[in-house]
Amino acid sequence: TYIIAEPCVDLLDKACIEECPVDCIYEGNRMLYIHPDECVDCGACEPVCPVEAIFYEDDVPEEWNDYTAANYEFFEDLGSPGGASKIGKIEKDATFIAGLPKKEA
Ligand code: F3S
Ligand code: F3S
Repeated sequence: TYIIAEPCVDLLDKACIEECPVDCIYEGNRMLYIHPDECVDCGACEPVCPVEAIFYEDDVPEEWNDYTAANYEFFEDLGSPGGASKIGKIEKDATFIAGLPKKEA
């Protein structure tokens, strides 16, 4: 799977959403999350993020390892919805994301 990391927090550019052929990039309150089971590793989202927040799972920079866990955690109670667009924004975040200090715009 691919993983969305720190640069997405409080930015949510959403350019990535348009690129995903399987609609597996879901919106939370403070960032977007890639569904680890629905992502087919096509990689189309990675180059379009203007802040380079998206990484192949094995290439997530070490200081952002918690974001790998966060992308998994986000879906623990959601299962596999099979499409982000029909669900829309999900009013939650992975636990440590929710607790991060708000970034200045
Ligand atoms: Fe976030 Fe980049 Fe997508 S900022 S919403 S991962 S385009
Ligand atoms: Fe979609 Fe990116 Fe995976 S475009 S299939 S989330 S690699």
